[in-house]
Amino acid sequence: MKILVTGGAGYIGSHMVRMLLEQGVDVVVIDNFSTGNWNEEGRIIEGNFGDMELLEKIFSTEKFDGVIHLAASSSVEESVLHPVEYYKNNVLNTLNLLDVMIKYGVSKFIFSSTAAVYGEPDYFPIDEKHKVHPVNPYGQTKLFIEETLKFYEEAYGLSSVSLRFFNAAGASPCGSIGENRAVETHLIPIILKVAKGIRKNLSIFGTNYNTKDGTCKRDYVHVSDLCNAHTLALKYIDEKPGSHIFNLGTGSGYSVKEVIDTVEKVTGKEITVESKTRRAGDPEKLVANYEKAFKHLGWKPLFGLKEIIQHSWNWEQNLQAQKQRMKMKKNAPARSQTFDKQALTFSAI
Ligand SMILES: NC(=O)c1ccc[n+]([C@@H]2O[C@H](COP(=O)([O-])OP(=O)(O)OC[C@H]3O[C@@H](n4cnc5c(N)ncnc54)[C@H](O)[C@@H]3O)[C@@H](O)[C@H]2O)c1
Repeated sequence: MKILVTGGAGYIGSHMVRMLLEQGVDVVVIDNFSTGNWNEEGRIIEGNFGDMELLEKIFSTEKFDGVIHLAASSSVEESVLHPVEYYKNNVLNTLNLLDVMIKYGVSKFIFSSTAAVYGEPDYFPIDEKHKVHPVNPYGQTKLFIEETLKFYEEAYGLSSVSLRFFNAAGASPCGSIGENRAVETHLIPIILKVAKGIRKNLSIFGTNYNTKDGTCKRDYVHVSDLCNAHTLALKYIDEKPGSHIFNLGTGSGYSVKEVIDTVEKVTGKEITVESKTRRAGDPEKLVANYEKAFKHLGWKPLFGLKEIIQHSWNWEQNLQAQKQRMKMKKNAPARSQTFDKQALTFSAI
């Protein structure tokens, strides 16, 4: 089996690529390294996944069985400030990718969607029948593609699975890959940076929500569990062509304070916090009902919050050494992984 993974140098993508390679899948990655920085595994083509000329060259020389589409711009805050970038990258580029897939008869598409399509929830846990009403451009771009996929199935026979991730978290258990963003916005890596002493404190936005301890509740799902769902989804559309949608969460929500307590237990470090006012657009609780994914994909999360934090802590402690190693690789003269549009050469690394 040969799969194109867009965004394979990103946080979730790097775990996805590793899992597919371990399963013996032939993987080609396309990534422009705008936010991703992992470039160690799989064949990597450096470029924009929406560049038609590049896609034509790739698809005319590679015969893919399917595409796992992880590349996107994915910061809610940034999408509110710069919506046009989000519509261009998450909508226009994705439509280009779908065009080329259809042209070359590649009919299986696994799409990374998000819980942000639900907006402010009416009930918990949130199932797939919950109304969709995104409250930011990021969520809207993802919903647009989900809806497009329904019509593309009818018109072009494109089969898809849209996976609505709740909060992706964790790292590979040994700590060799994990989250590493230039500007970190995710709760667990931020708390761990406080535990490491490289951030002074953690800001808690809102301590008067209607939850047990007044802080927001989120559903943290381990990155390995998410990747596992993608491989199950690929098998599923083999047997059940269509356009399918599944939530991926654990069904258990943890408040910010509960996450801090668990970090303190796992790391043995005290976390200094600073209470701030609520941020606009932060729902009180986001917790998934994942029964549909269990029933149809046979998926269930294997890791809980404690393992998520333990694995992320292993990664945080490795991070400096990893960064050094990547820098040395990047500077090594023999290394080449850039894509030559004219000659269609890309190296396997
Ligand atoms: N991390 C989460 O909690 C979460 C939650 C819900 C959904 N998602 C979705 O999962 C996917 C992966 O998220 P992530 O956390 O790994 O993000 P990430 O930013 O680490 O990874 C995205 C990757 O896509 C690449 N990319 C972006 N635009 C590109 C373009 N035009 N051409 C080529 N490459 C491009 C980036 O360089 C990066 O490597 C995204 O689609 C995101 O919306 C993530």
